[in-house]
Amino acid sequence: MSRGLLFRLVAIVVVSLVFPLAFTAYGLYSGARVERLALEERERQMQRVLGEVSAGLREINSGGKNGDALDREVRGVLNRTLAGYPGIRGGVFLPETQRTVIGGELKWYDYRPEVWPKEGRELFRERDPVIREALDTGEAVTRRIVMYRGEGLVHALPVTVGGEKAVAWAEEVLQPAIGQDRVLRKWAFLLTTMGFLVALASALYISGSLGRGVNRIKNGLEQLKRDLSYRLPPMPGELGQIVAAINQLAQGLMEKERLEEQLQRSARLAALGHLTAGVAHEMRNPLGIIRGTAQIMAQEYNHVPGLAEDVAVILEQADRQNRVIRELLDFARPAPPLMQEINLNAILESVLSFSRKFLEQNQVNLVTQLSPDLPQVQADGEKIKQVFLNLLLNAVEAMPTGGTITIETLATPDGVAVSFGDTGPGISPEARSHLFDPFYTTKSDGTGLGLAICHQIVTMHGGNIEVETGDRGSVFRVSLPRSPERRDAGGTLDPGD
Ligand SMILES: Nc1ncnc2c1ncn2[C@@H]1O[C@H](COP(=O)(O)OP(=O)(O)OP(=O)(O)O)[C@@H](O)[C@H]1O
Ligand SMILES: [Mg+2]
Repeated sequence: MSRGLLFRLVAIVVVSLVFPLAFTAYGLYSGARVERLALEERERQMQRVLGEVSAGLREINSGGKNGDALDREVRGVLNRTLAGYPGIRGGVFLPETQRTVIGGELKWYDYRPEVWPKEGRELFRERDPVIREALDTGEAVTRRIVMYRGEGLVHALPVTVGGEKAVAWAEEVLQPAIGQDRVLRKWAFLLTTMGFLVALASALYISGSLGRGVNRIKNGLEQLKRDLSYRLPPMPGELGQIVAAINQLAQGLMEKERLEEQLQRSARLAALGHLTAGVAHEMRNPLGIIRGTAQIMAQEYNHVPGLAEDVAVILEQADRQNRVIRELLDFARPAPPLMQEINLNAILESVLSFSRKFLEQNQVNLVTQLSPDLPQVQADGEKIKQVFLNLLLNAVEAMPTGGTITIETLATPDGVAVSFGDTGPGISPEARSHLFDPFYTTKSDGTGLGLAICHQIVTMHGGNIEVETGDRGSVFRVSLPRSPERRDAGGTLDPGD
């Protein structure tokens, strides 16, 4: 997904910028060619000039002439030749006398550099290396040099004056447009290339960060598919708004699922209530008779060996069934709660006071974190005790080889919350959806009523019970409001008789 995006962005950048870049590069190339041709043309012109000057100088006969007289003749040749080439100026350097003779538009210079004005001396310094090079190598040299207010072309040619070696040079100020054009083209190319690189880098960056965000959302949605309680981490910008909307949607879905589940449970419990109350009632009487008869048998036939043990088994099973029936009836036809102002810490303490020994026997370590400023709640203390006991028992039963139970109470904005955490094996998602269903059990001797009763009692109080579970243990959290508005939370059953 992000790779496709990257490809498209890079393609857009390349397609939209590659043509301007190619045109600029071509413009540069052809501009440079035009410039080169123009310079070659100027150079040829100067070669022509110096050819003529060289021919003129060869004619000079130096025999017996002093320096000044020779200079005059040289200057004459220069001026005559240069007069035919406006814009070109030049000079001759005579190494023999170390004098420089200047002609053309440079005529304001004296031939002695030491008396030249400052600009003249600086100018001479620029072309001096060109003259020297021609003198040293004995070959024509052409260079672009910095000239007073601009750029110029200098061409130097070794010549002979009266049999002596000398160097003649011609020079011309170049059209400023040539230099400017070159600078402009250089900048145009530089800026277009930079623009191209910046656009490419931006495309890579945008597609990268967008791709990462999209991937995070994609992974989050995968996770959400498995676990509706998962929330996508917040993100900046538009993707963040999408994330917030997805999280909101998930929250709504979860709420809907919870309500549906509650509704289903209410319907199931109502139907079950009618049935169980009737069956339980019917079973109670024969069970009473079985129990009574077994007791009489034990008394009347106490001389029969082994009978007492058998009767004990009958009585034990009858008692167990009686307990189940009592729980069933309690569940199907719960007594209305006796609401009082109670402190849940105190209720917990009383449950723990008689459970501590039992916990010790089962190698369960108890950790309590009871909030000292827990507000009072309106609740039926006995029923809440039953909830806590059931949760405690389940936690112990989940850790057959021992472990730790952590009980925590804390004040919440609308009441109190009590949580029971264990270090058992956790609960599978499949089992989690049935935990609060009556008769759902994974234990050979369980009734599967413990959590159903807890749920019934808590909802009767206007609170709720939730479970958080993973691979390492589960936490059951009971939340109770400060004072419940009585509501039929789907837990109160009406058995009908
Ligand atoms: N703390 C826990 N850790 C792991 N599984 C649990 C825990 N609490 C409950 N369960 C699972 O939920 C099932 C239902 O619990 P519930 O208390 O309703 O019934 P039970 O404990 O099986 O039977 P009873 O409470 O009647 O003895 C249990 O059988 C068990 O599989
Ligand atoms: Mg139980």
